[in-house]
Amino acid sequence: MNNLTPAQMVLMRKACLITKEALKYCETLIRPGISTKDLDKEIEKFIIDNGAYPACKGYEGYPAATCISVNEMVVHGIPSENVILKEGDIVSIDLVVRYKGLHGDATRTFPVGKISPQRQKLIEVTKQCFFEGIKKLKVGHRLGEVSHAIQQYAESNGFSVVRELVGHGIGLKMHEPPNVPNYGKDTDGPLITENACLAIEPMINEGKKEVWLIEDGWGVVTRDGKCSAHYENTVHVTKDGVEILTL
Ligand code: MF3
Ligand code: CO
Repeated sequence: MNNLTPAQMVLMRKACLITKEALKYCETLIRPGISTKDLDKEIEKFIIDNGAYPACKGYEGYPAATCISVNEMVVHGIPSENVILKEGDIVSIDLVVRYKGLHGDATRTFPVGKISPQRQKLIEVTKQCFFEGIKKLKVGHRLGEVSHAIQQYAESNGFSVVRELVGHGIGLKMHEPPNVPNYGKDTDGPLITENACLAIEPMINEGKKEVWLIEDGWGVVTRDGKCSAHYENTVHVTKDGVEILTL
């Protein structure tokens, strides 16, 4: 697990602050009728105007600034002028901001207008999965305790956990070791170390856990076509707790 210097942590906090502000800005843009391409353009401008860079752009050839995933799309939705938000949809916006070499990564799933109670529950349970997980994020404990708590909370609410995508270390790179699965045994994984920065990101399905990769090579959708939600923050492990850097 990483251990950034105090000077790097200053930049890390700034990257995460811009990430947080960008997500707040997203919330103001969401409305029926807007395309995910237009959302992406606005968010990219916001990040650049704040002196940072949208790190997804160009990452392994990814073509956009953000990942915007609607309804049954789990992650990595490529923004498109053909994807228009409509009342009742749920939309996940995943942002990675790079500021002077350090990264902030966060995701929120937003409702578009009025949504069904079941979709509302999915959004709330996914968010709470994150908080159940970080209750277990303690120096000297196993990372598997976090993973296990997330899975328990999701499944006890009747939802399922995506296996193919996981959280990760973050800092000088967007993706660093260790992997942070959202499922597993509490005795698995490495010991949690002080000062580590991690992106904890439950991806929770309304129906079954299985997913497909779509033809564009990026988008991941549920096989059963039911909705999926995603909630992510970049966090910093301290001696006596956790700082949520993007909240
Ligand atoms: N934000 C995603 C993550 O949490 C990464 C997006 S993949 C990219 O890992 F290619 F779009 F950058
Ligand atoms: Co991430």
